[in-house]
Amino acid sequence: MIRLQKFLADAGVSSRRKCEELILQGRVQVNGKTVTEPGTKVAGSEEIKVDGKVIRSGQKKVYILLNKPTGYISSVKDQFSRKTVIDLVSGIKERIYPVGRLDYDTSGLIILTNDGEFANMLMHPRNEVEKVYVAEVQGRLSADDVKRLENGLDIGDHVTSPARVKIIGESAGRSVVEIAIHEGKNRQVRRMFEAVGHPVLRLKRTSIGGITDRGLEVGKWRHLSEAEIEMLRSEYVSFGHGKRGYKKEKQ
Ligand code: URA
Repeated sequence: MIRLQKFLADAGVSSRRKCEELILQGRVQVNGKTVTEPGTKVAGSEEIKVDGKVIRSGQKKVYILLNKPTGYISSVKDQFSRKTVIDLVSGIKERIYPVGRLDYDTSGLIILTNDGEFANMLMHPRNEVEKVYVAEVQGRLSADDVKRLENGLDIGDHVTSPARVKIIGESAGRSVVEIAIHEGKNRQVRRMFEAVGHPVLRLKRTSIGGITDRGLEVGKWRHLSEAEIEMLRSEYVSFGHGKRGYKKEKQ
């Protein structure tokens, strides 16, 4: 017997934490009965449904890289019926979902998958997956602003970890800055630039874990190659199925 949220995550429904939320939201049925207790144990032989759709264990795993335009939300469904990243990916019958989030106003790379363990691995802060953003910001950054962004600064509910920062363009009253971070707090990059007094005007994510947007137009998607999936996985040492992976010690 395994916990219902683990069955759902292993079947590729979402990350384990998200599966707990689905259960709490009353979206999961076991043998026709809605279950709202995340700890519920199942054998796997029951008929298990999410949003009325039967979930089978061990679906084919799908890994997609999407270059999201602004104006789309990073979830499977939106309570206000706005367009979602799923609307941009056609012809995939598996129930995929985005790994992490990009703001409605942010463009750039996002991974979609039905592999819950892979999603957990990429999102766990301990794994430190590097995400690179290009931000167009108001004003010109001083050397001190750059140092504060690099060293870590208070963004209200969190002090950020060290980041890499590079000014790649400056014009009258605006700067274009590349920033690489390893965390994923809500609106983190926007809040970091706000904290140094340079609000973000435009933001795009150009790389996740070394996979870049090169050759992938905005609004388009492609499958990740075996080599790319392997590259993301090989950064981690996994201690067995169902457990979290931990990043290898840096040499
Ligand atoms: N940081 C932000 O502020 N927004 C995003 O969409 C991603 C990172």
